[in-house]
Amino acid sequence: MNKLIISGQNKLYGKVEVMSAKNALLPLIASCVLLDFEVGFLNCPKLGDVVVMLDIIKSLGGKYRYDGDTLYVDCSSLYIPELPCELSKKIRASIFLLGPLIARFRRVSAVTPGGCNFGERPIDIHLDSLRQLGVEISGKENLYLRAEKLIGSRIRLPFPSVGVTENLIMASCLADGETVITNCAKEPEIVCLCNFLNKLGAKIVGAGTSKICVEGVKKLTKNFAYYKPITDRVEVGTYLLATLNTGGEVEINGANFLHNVSLIKKIYNNTCKLTFESDKIYLKCCGVGSSLGFIKTGPYPAFPTDLQSPILAYACSLSGKTIIEETVFKNRFSIIPELKKMNADITLQGSKAIVNGKGKLNGAILNANDLRSGAGLIISALGAEGVSEIIGLDIIERGYFDIDKKLRMLGANVTKG
Ligand code: UD1
Repeated sequence: MNKLIISGQNKLYGKVEVMSAKNALLPLIASCVLLDFEVGFLNCPKLGDVVVMLDIIKSLGGKYRYDGDTLYVDCSSLYIPELPCELSKKIRASIFLLGPLIARFRRVSAVTPGGCNFGERPIDIHLDSLRQLGVEISGKENLYLRAEKLIGSRIRLPFPSVGVTENLIMASCLADGETVITNCAKEPEIVCLCNFLNKLGAKIVGAGTSKICVEGVKKLTKNFAYYKPITDRVEVGTYLLATLNTGGEVEINGANFLHNVSLIKKIYNNTCKLTFESDKIYLKCCGVGSSLGFIKTGPYPAFPTDLQSPILAYACSLSGKTIIEETVFKNRFSIIPELKKMNADITLQGSKAIVNGKGKLNGAILNANDLRSGAGLIISALGAEGVSEIIGLDIIERGYFDIDKKLRMLGANVTKG
């Protein structure tokens, strides 16, 4: 049962619910390493990557449990500062544990992380910035980190990396003195992490801007029962693009439109009506759109790289030319050969994809080579003529919970096979 079989061209109608974001949950779970008590996170899907992260916590001596959609994580009994090799290789986010583990144990052994395969994903900025907090690091594939103590520092990132910003925030929370991180990432998931830590007594200001100051504290303390992470803006974007590609009318519950402004600006035109409430987006399609013009991915608030494959898939079914430039992960185009099997007209020139929209694509047998290219293929298959099979459902389920059920509820013809 590792594929999705989609018979295309059913319009999507109805309501769909989005839950806590994978990219918010992964650093939140990592930050539990800083705590010697249990915390509960609301509205949590059992996503593939989240379960791997939780299993890593378990292998370090921590505990977790689900009660319905509430996830409880308890790191009070954590005692092993050694990241397990096999599990760490499964997810890039295992690197997020370095910061909190070094803050708690002053020594960590780890292996370089794995994750989605879209070219080289170095960890140099992670390691360099931890060094600036006083961490000594040796080894290449197997890493050994030691610090007598963590000392607050001024750190300017060469690129506003999401993971590095999160790692540094977690490490510096319990450091001696103040850490100032400039040119840091401004993603909503960073704000979500900082709000959580501040509720526990951390002193972090500036989250959501390019300068974050963290005043180290001695200890974080429990003073609330549950925390509700932000919902998944990439999942929201995926359902918006899927609906635009098929036609129809959907209500996305749990969606914060402020987190998806760059996407909304691109799709907002006279072929659809979009309305927003504080936690809902309504989309009604009323025609076939034309070219999306030029799209350039970049750090938030620019267009997210995680929606690049989904919007590329949508652009193929429009009339006219769309150019998409990828600036975050330059080789993140594994969807292109798959879309070509569906008769899409795309030319790759360096880090730019030039899409000549052709209207309807044809169903085909496709491979989900990474999580977001898998999501893009679903979007294409839903709008295509005929049947498509998308192999690699396990890759898609790393980041999309019950995607087949949710699409069926909207009227799509989707089965697992
Ligand atoms: C996070 C998201 C991922 C998203 C990405 C960019 C999570 C779990 N994942 O990944 O879905 O696509 O942000 O929005 O939140 N880089 C280096 N050296 C480093 C670290 C990063 O060169 O030490 C480079 C990367 O190769 C990439 C760029 O910086 O080219 C951005 O990566 P980064 O923001 O760190 O992405 P992640 O945190 O891994």
